[in-house]
Amino acid sequence: MCGIVGYTGSAQAGPILLEGLKKLEYRGYDSAGIAVINNGEITLSKVTGRIDNLYEKTDGGRAAPGRAGIGHTRWATHGMPTDYNAHPHLSNDGRFAIVHNGIIENYALLREELIEKGYHFESETDTEVVVHLIEMYYNGDLKRAVIRTCGRLQGSYALGVACTDEPERLFAARESSPLIIGLGIGENFFASDVTALVSYTRNAIYMEDGEFAEITPDRVTVYDVTGSPVKKEVDRITWDIQAAEKGGYPHFMLKEIMEQPGAVKATLAPRIKDDEIVLDGQDFSAAELLDINKILITACGSAYYAGCAGRFAIEKLFRVPVSVELASELRYSDPIIDEHTLLIVISQSGETADTIAAMKECRSRGAKTLAIVNVVGSTVAKLADRTIYTWAGPEIAVATTKGYTTQLSVLYLFALYAARKTGRIEDGEYEHLLTTLKNLPKRLQESIDLSSRIPKLAKRYAHTRSIFFIGRNTDAAAALEGALKMKEISYIHAESYPAGELKHGTIALIEDHQPVIALCCNDSVMEKTMNNIIEVKARGADVLAVTFRKNDRILSLADEMIFVPKTDTVFAAIVEIIPLQLLAYYTAREKGCDIDKPKNLAKSVTVE
Ligand code: AGP
Repeated sequence: MCGIVGYTGSAQAGPILLEGLKKLEYRGYDSAGIAVINNGEITLSKVTGRIDNLYEKTDGGRAAPGRAGIGHTRWATHGMPTDYNAHPHLSNDGRFAIVHNGIIENYALLREELIEKGYHFESETDTEVVVHLIEMYYNGDLKRAVIRTCGRLQGSYALGVACTDEPERLFAARESSPLIIGLGIGENFFASDVTALVSYTRNAIYMEDGEFAEITPDRVTVYDVTGSPVKKEVDRITWDIQAAEKGGYPHFMLKEIMEQPGAVKATLAPRIKDDEIVLDGQDFSAAELLDINKILITACGSAYYAGCAGRFAIEKLFRVPVSVELASELRYSDPIIDEHTLLIVISQSGETADTIAAMKECRSRGAKTLAIVNVVGSTVAKLADRTIYTWAGPEIAVATTKGYTTQLSVLYLFALYAARKTGRIEDGEYEHLLTTLKNLPKRLQESIDLSSRIPKLAKRYAHTRSIFFIGRNTDAAAALEGALKMKEISYIHAESYPAGELKHGTIALIEDHQPVIALCCNDSVMEKTMNNIIEVKARGADVLAVTFRKNDRILSLADEMIFVPKTDTVFAAIVEIIPLQLLAYYTAREKGCDIDKPKNLAKSVTVE
C-alpha cells in the first residue's frame, strides 16, 4: 500500500521527507515524490521507481528548500506507475499539494463534477479529485476546506495537505487508513506508520477514523468532523524498526493474514455500486458474455488453487463450463481454444513466467483474456484484454494469503456479475448472493476471531511426518491451498486429496495417528465427507474437522474441531482457508522455520 510522510519545523524538510520515505520502502511501491513549501511556492519532485531516484533528482532533498513539506510512496491502484500519477498532486492554482494512502471509491463521479466546474486533471489517479475539491472549498480557512472535502469522499484515506498560503501549517486526515502524528521539539511530523517517525521521535498521536490534525512546528491540534478539538493521548512508540515494519506482528505473513478482511473489502467494495456490480471500465456487454462457451482459468501455485475454488462459483452461477489448468502444463498442451473461449489469468505478481507463457499461447489461438492481478502495470496486466485488479496492497511474505483470498473474491464477483448480465440468475438469488458477497470481509474477520485455539492445535502437528487435507467439491479446492500453505512454510509433507477418492488407493497410507484435516463446509456433500471421516477414523487417523459453528453432528466423529462462520456454500472456500493459513503459520512457528522467506522459494517465479 502507499505511504505518506509530512514534516514542519526548523530544519530543511526535503532530507527529512526522503529519509521518512526510505523507511516506508518495505511497504512496496512503484513511484515516489515530495512537495516542499518555500516563499509561497511549492517545489514538486516525483519519480517512477525507487526512492534513490528521488534522492538523485533532488540532490538529497537540498534542491527542494523549505521547512514544511509532504512525501509519498505509491503502490499503484488507479493508473499506471508513472511520474504524472505519482503523488504529491497539486491543485490547478498551484497553492495546494496532497498525498494519500487508500482508495477513493467515488472518485469517478467527483472527477466528472470537477471537470464540469472547470478543473483539469494531470493524472489518472483517484487521489487527484481530493486536491481539486480542497481548492474548490478553500476560502481562506484550510481546516474547513479539508473537512468539507473529506465529507465528499467515500472509501479510505490517510491524507496529508500542504498549502502555500500557510507555509508552516500542514493538515492530515484519517479514514480507514493508518495515520500517526509524531511530536518533536519545535518540529512535528505525520506518517503512515511509525517506521518513518522513530528516528526523530517516539512520542506519537494515533489518529482515529474521522479525525483531522492541524500541524505546525510548535503545535498539533486534532479535530473531529464538526471541527471541534478532540483531546488525544500521546503514546510512546516502543517498537523497533523491524517490529514496526510488520505492524507489531512477528512476521509479515501473520500481518497479511490479519489484513485479509480489509483487503477483500478494498477489492470488492468499489465494484458494488447501488447493488449492481461494475468492473471499473473493464465491463463486458451481455452479448460478449453470451458469446463465451468455455472458460479456461490458468495460473500457478496458490493462484491456480484460487482458480480451482472460484471455478465452482462461475459454473454454478454463470452456467459456462470452466476448466482450470496449471500454466506450466497448459503452455505445452496444444490447448483447444477459439474466440469463444475466455481465458482468466490469475497472478499476484503479474510476472510469473509460466503464467505469461501460457497466456501468450492462448491469446495466439484466439482466446479473449481477463487478468486478475495485484500489481498494477505488471506484464500479465499489460498483456490482458481486461484486468480486474485485486487491491490487497503489497504482499511481502513469500507464502501468499491476502493475494489468494482477494483473487478468489474477484472470481466470486465475476461469477455473480456474469450471471446477472446474462439473466442467468433470478433477482432474489442475485440479491441474496450479493449481500453474502458484501459480507465476506465480516465473515473473514469472524473466521480469524474463531481461530484462537490454533496456536495450541499447531503443537500437535509440528513434529508429524505428513498431513492429509481432505474434502469434496469447494472443500477439496480449499484443501489444495491449505496443503500448500503447510508444505511451503513448515516443510511438512502435506497432501490434499478428494475425500471420495481415498478408497481408490490412497487410504492405504492411513495408519494409527495419521493426521487428517477434513474440510466440511459444503452442505451439499456434508454427509459424504462425514462418511469419509468415519473411514479414516476406522484406520486410526487423528481427524481435525473444519466446519460451521453448531455443526454438532461432526463433534462425535472428529478428534478436534475448528469452527468457521457459516456462509453460502458457493463462497465457503474463502472463509475456511483462514484457519488453514493460521494452522500452517503456527505449525511453522512451532518448528522455528523462516516463515516470511521459506527455503528454496521466491515471491515471484519469473523463470520457467
Ligand atoms: C504461494 O504461497 C506461493 N507464493 C506460490 O505458489 C505463488 O502463488 C505462485 O508462484 C504464483 O505466483 P503469482 O500469483 O505471483 O503468479
